[in-house]
Amino acid sequence: ERADLLVIAPATANTLAKLAGGIADNLVTESALAHAGPLVLAPAMNSRMWASPATQENMRVLRERGAHVVGPEEGELGEGGSGVGRMSEPAAIFECCQRLLAASGSLAGTRILISAGGTREPLDSVRFLGNRSSGRMGVALAAEAARRGAEVTLVAANLAVPAPAGVELIEVDSAAALGEAVLGREADVILMSAAVADYRPAAPESGKRRKSDESWTVELEPTSDVLLELGRRRRKGQLLIGFAADEGAAGLERAREKLRAKQVDLIVFNDIAQPGIGFDAEENEVVLISKSGETALARAPKREIAAGVLDAVERLRG
Ligand code: CTP
Repeated sequence: ERADLLVIAPATANTLAKLAGGIADNLVTESALAHAGPLVLAPAMNSRMWASPATQENMRVLRERGAHVVGPEEGELGEGGSGVGRMSEPAAIFECCQRLLAASGSLAGTRILISAGGTREPLDSVRFLGNRSSGRMGVALAAEAARRGAEVTLVAANLAVPAPAGVELIEVDSAAALGEAVLGREADVILMSAAVADYRPAAPESGKRRKSDESWTVELEPTSDVLLELGRRRRKGQLLIGFAADEGAAGLERAREKLRAKQVDLIVFNDIAQPGIGFDAEENEVVLISKSGETALARAPKREIAAGVLDAVERLRG
């Protein structure tokens, strides 16, 4: 009664035949007959059994009724030898399930743009000024938004972790490139979780700077504030979420100020003075600041924090 989706993996020739005939003589076939939601089948069997007219006819019937079939693949078979009949890899079956669940997700049809990671500003052709952001928070947000059915674009600056599956990935390096990528896209919701450099070397050297005994003085110039620009250009109905990494009570006060100054709908504040959270950490603990009030999300893995942030986004979208 409660399952959103039913997966049968492996689905044998026998089970497929029972499903096609509406037979319910064991827990699997009973569950399948009583299940009203999407059904995913991952057939696995001997290649001649798969090719047999009986199995092929059963598959036709099941497909016609709306079953989603993953595989089988050609490869090594359980009984030995190889041929068509090997069950698809669990990752492929899982991806199919995710895609089906996303279609009915709470953010289905919403275009979400997320910036993640930390920008790098060149000093010369091999050195840069960077920061400690790993991109974990932005990647967790992208994965959670995709799970909820959103069309996700991830503008990624130097991630230390892999980007999630099922999102459009745009890789950038510097603050300027990140700004260009973000400002050039349409979106219903923009989450600026990237740590964007506030300053960059004013005159980066073209080749590699050679070592010498003299000191090296670098002049830094301000970068443009992407979030501020997004606030200025914002069209009606678009939601803008900024992040603030700051320290202590004074930092929280500055984050509240940022909500007004940058004209955003939500600021996600995290206190970088606390050990084990925020930059380059697995966990986070944040305060969500909006015009209508503040919510503290207790220390949790970034995946859970991402879910809390997206719950707030869904509330703001009404
Ligand atoms: N941001 C941006 N463009 C920049 C710098 C920051 O879009 N050039 C965005 C970040 O992605 C983040 C928010 O602005 O969403 C952070 O604001 P910022 O004013 O940079 O605050 P902090 O860096 O947290 O603190 P400080 O005010 O000390 O710089």
